Amino acid sequence: MTDREPLSTEPYKGVRDFYPEDWAKMNYAFDIMRTVLRRRGFEEYAASPLERAELYESKTSEEIVNEQTYSFIDRGDRKVTIRPEMTPTLARMVAAKRRELVFPVRWFSIPNVFRYERPQRGRLREHYQLNADILGIADAKADGEIIVIVSDLLRAFGAQDADFSIRINSRTLLSAAAQALGLSVDEVTAYSALLDRKNKMSGADFETERSAFRRSGTDPLELIEAGTNAEVDAELKKLEALIEAFRSHGMTNVVFDPTIVRGFLYYTGIVFEVFDTDPGNNRSLFGGGRYDNLVALFGGEPIPAVGFGMGDVTLIDFLTTHNLLPANITGAPDLFIGTPSEADIAQAQGCAELMRSRDVNTLVNVSGKSLGDQIKEAVRRKIPYFIAYGAQEAESGMVTLKILNDSREESISLDSLAAFITKDK
Ligand code: HAM
Repeated sequence: MTDREPLSTEPYKGVRDFYPEDWAKMNYAFDIMRTVLRRRGFEEYAASPLERAELYESKTSEEIVNEQTYSFIDRGDRKVTIRPEMTPTLARMVAAKRRELVFPVRWFSIPNVFRYERPQRGRLREHYQLNADILGIADAKADGEIIVIVSDLLRAFGAQDADFSIRINSRTLLSAAAQALGLSVDEVTAYSALLDRKNKMSGADFETERSAFRRSGTDPLELIEAGTNAEVDAELKKLEALIEAFRSHGMTNVVFDPTIVRGFLYYTGIVFEVFDTDPGNNRSLFGGGRYDNLVALFGGEPIPAVGFGMGDVTLIDFLTTHNLLPANITGAPDLFIGTPSEADIAQAQGCAELMRSRDVNTLVNVSGKSLGDQIKEAVRRKIPYFIAYGAQEAESGMVTLKILNDSREESISLDSLAAFITKDK
């Protein structure tokens, strides 16, 4: 053992450690997500990240995802995949209890999901993803509800409508156009995949590949734009009506974008992606869509569904770009109770219990350090409030509260300390 290299402290490639301050930021985001979703009647669910591999092999997800899954054979010879997304798990769970559940189901979850990707800005091998889905409503009411939630969420983080745009399209519209041109099902899939890669390739390459899908000089996108086919136009009108409904509700940042298709095969209706409007971060933040046939893979009648997945990495980039992440998220306790001497520790613990019973997160010095060093420790721990508690404070019932981040002091009664801190912090 002696001549071995020390182990690396680095995390595995493409994943993150969350030290308490990092996790406090994540919890800040999770709290906002939970508040917004619960307020709209959504209930939280969860599941194990381990799934049978067949769940993803049965054409629920596109090849990209299959190439990106972490899969292994367990000791009982079962093929296992660590979930790359939550939607197949949700569909499985709903299918399993379809007789007991009250529809429509409105559920959300914040799972960590795993994809073997090349780590880069906005892309890691493990991320947290808020999933919000409605199952059991076939018409556009649910599409509208989901889009409103997307907007509500970003507003809850402090974003203005001008900071982001919601670009929506419809797979039905694209299929109608492809069908009108006589493209086969496989060609439609290949064409969608091309559109999905559009922003990752040069304009010239896109045009070259696109030409394979032209019939009589027109490809599906061009047919949609031309507005010359009645069926295609009818689909377009539906989408425009949805967008118009948002506009009349004061949401002006929802726009039609015929190039949005999204990578998954399971989408059947609207698809959308949310974009940052800042030129420095002009990328897709997250997206979703309607998937009416996924639940039926588990047997029984299809259950219509629509929802989205919002990743934490792109969200935090967005909040940082727009200066929307509060600077003071540390996860540190609120109050540090210092002791003039070690003999005061027992009494200070009693004082701490009183503070804790009043919702103040409190830490007590247990060392023999000088009061000066205890204050320094509180500062290094980023604890905002400090009091010393010894015989004098116990007798008088008065303490000197040090507000460490702006070097203020207040003389205050012990009885009103908790209320002061709760109000001030
Ligand atoms: P997705 O577009 O693959 O959709 O992922 C949703 C979001 O998760 C992305 O827009 C992005 O914010 C984030 N994300 C995806 N991959 C990574 C990565 N490697 N690193 C960091 N963030 C990432 C889905 O997964 C669908 N299941 C969403 C859905 C729910 N559709 C309907 N319901």
